[in-house]
Amino acid sequence: MGGVLVVVLVHIVATTVAAASDLRPGFYSETCPEAELIVRDVMKKALLREPRSVASVMRFQFHDCFVNGCDGSLLLDDTPSMVGEKLALSNINSLRSFEVVDQIKEALEKACPGVVSCADIIIIASRDAVALTGGPEWEVRLGRLDSLSASQEDSDNIMPSPRANASYLIDLFQRYNLSIKDLVALSGSHSIGKGRCFSIMFRLYNQSGTGKPDPAIDPIFRGELYKLCPLDVDQNVTGNLDSTPLVFDNQYFKDLVAGRGFLNSDQTLFTFPQTRGFVKFFSKHQTEFFKAFAEAMLKLGDLQSGRPGEVRTNCRVVNARPAAHLLFESRLKTQANNDHRSI
Ligand code: HEM
Repeated sequence: MGGVLVVVLVHIVATTVAAASDLRPGFYSETCPEAELIVRDVMKKALLREPRSVASVMRFQFHDCFVNGCDGSLLLDDTPSMVGEKLALSNINSLRSFEVVDQIKEALEKACPGVVSCADIIIIASRDAVALTGGPEWEVRLGRLDSLSASQEDSDNIMPSPRANASYLIDLFQRYNLSIKDLVALSGSHSIGKGRCFSIMFRLYNQSGTGKPDPAIDPIFRGELYKLCPLDVDQNVTGNLDSTPLVFDNQYFKDLVAGRGFLNSDQTLFTFPQTRGFVKFFSKHQTEFFKAFAEAMLKLGDLQSGRPGEVRTNCRVVNARPAAHLLFESRLKTQANNDHRSI
């Protein structure tokens, strides 16, 4: 009985629960003072090696935090008993640069083993991606834990399609306590990075089942998109999400005003009256965009599931459970089998 108690305690210690209120700046100042410098350094190298990779890493914050809170669930590889989020509709053949997170984790494990969570790495690296490409800097709140599982189904049910219109997006973001202003500012993340033809074929050739292109696309830009994505194109071909895809700036909003948004979910922000005002405003005032973006990223980063978690040593797999714990589980199973037999 004493053994069981110890095992239960071990389990509780190894998997604790983090709430948004526990997050704070400087969380690692004692346990891993170099943590943020280490992340910044790897991100700088990633930017030099492949400029787009930092945008790809920044996207992780959205796809991680919307699905059961910012808990690194997105980073888990599938296992025989779990289909994770990497295969979800919005992620498959699309999310990339997971190796940058691996490199960050490796560097952190060398400096301070078992201390910095993968969930926090995503938050720090996303801030760095923005800062390194010319955008704003902000102080991140840290102390997240990594999830013990991931769910393809949850991601499929939550993540919005590039076909989404502004009113759908407003409702979705509201469920996460993110305002219309937050939605428009966060969409400004598409100031860096690329999207696939796959994500825009419908708006080029069959918007809302009309057999016609989206009328909101500027005709000259439409010509450019037709050239990039002809009907028989390999749909993994990519195009820039705005006209300055390596610089984090407010060009994205200027492009929307000019009808040159890449995704339907981008251009719709200018078409719809509730969001149009913010698009216009940010297109004229980059400093206001930067301020709103930093605030919204902090709100996005505060989303927490309240479920138990751990600090993974490898972002792709949950930590091995202690042998004693496995023994405890197998004892429980044997007990259950015995109970079953005695019915
Ligand atoms: C408002 C709802 C959003 C929708 C519908 C959306 C959808 C998409 C789509 C369809 C792509 C291109 C994927 C592909 O074609 O493979 C993309 C790329 C991207 N998204 Fe979003 N997104 C949204 C919000 C966000 C947010 C909030 C962020 C970050 C905070 C973000 C960051 C990015 C980045 C950086 C890229 C480029 C990634 C790369 O180059 O690899 N997106 N998004």
